[in-house]
Amino acid sequence: MASNELRLQQPPPPKDAADQNFDYMFKLLIIGNSSVGKTSFLFRYADDSFTSAFISTVGIDFKVKTVFRNDKRIKLQIWDTAGQERYRTITTAYYRGAMGFLLMYDITNQESFNAVQDWATQIKQYSWDNAQVILIGNKCDMEDDRLIPTEDGQRIAEDLGFQFFEASAKDNINVKQVFECLVDVICDKMNESMEADLNVAPNHRNQGLKDSPPSINKSNCAC
Ligand code: GTP
Ligand code: MG
Repeated sequence: MASNELRLQQPPPPKDAADQNFDYMFKLLIIGNSSVGKTSFLFRYADDSFTSAFISTVGIDFKVKTVFRNDKRIKLQIWDTAGQERYRTITTAYYRGAMGFLLMYDITNQESFNAVQDWATQIKQYSWDNAQVILIGNKCDMEDDRLIPTEDGQRIAEDLGFQFFEASAKDNINVKQVFECLVDVICDKMNESMEADLNVAPNHRNQGLKDSPPSINKSNCAC
């Protein structure tokens, strides 16, 4: 759980959160070692752009993207965290309330893969118990430089109970699919939660859709 200190550091909601023209709002976080491609992944998804220049993220940044899934208008508030260790206290303050995480490593970088377990521990420590996680092996366009076999990524994802994708922000491989998978899993769990809520308190079954995370018990992605 977050300490009191971390609670004090919890940031105010971004300005766009005032826009109520959506059915649901999901807060998502992208985490992982520095240079694995978190910012590039978000830019590819939100703006369909890519640059080979590396400008390491300072602290944290976010983008908002609205998607239509399952007949619902879903606003995604996607937080891009700095991978550098020195920003860890700041970035973990943002874990609270996140409904989904994209945990990223670089398939050409052994250290980034070795750190996956530690990142998973951070999620467990600082986020909602039921937050959904997708493990992403990024830079799969760099096959010649690959150090992490696909099977190793699959294995650790399975051990940790996460969904798994290999992707490329550069070549736009599996970027949209990763976000859609995460949204679908969160929607599924939210529906389960609403059904349970319906049985308990019918008058309040829609409460919390826009400002509380769902009760998510286990991963069930169909992708
Ligand atoms: P921090 O902000 O320091 O945590 O790093 P980051 O994870 O946000 O990395 P960033 O997105 O800035 O990308 C780091 C470098 O990797 C940049 O030079 C990108 O152009 C490059 N890169 C990102 N994604 C890909 C990819 O899919 N393929 C290839 N070949 N390069 C990529
Ligand atoms: Mg970055």
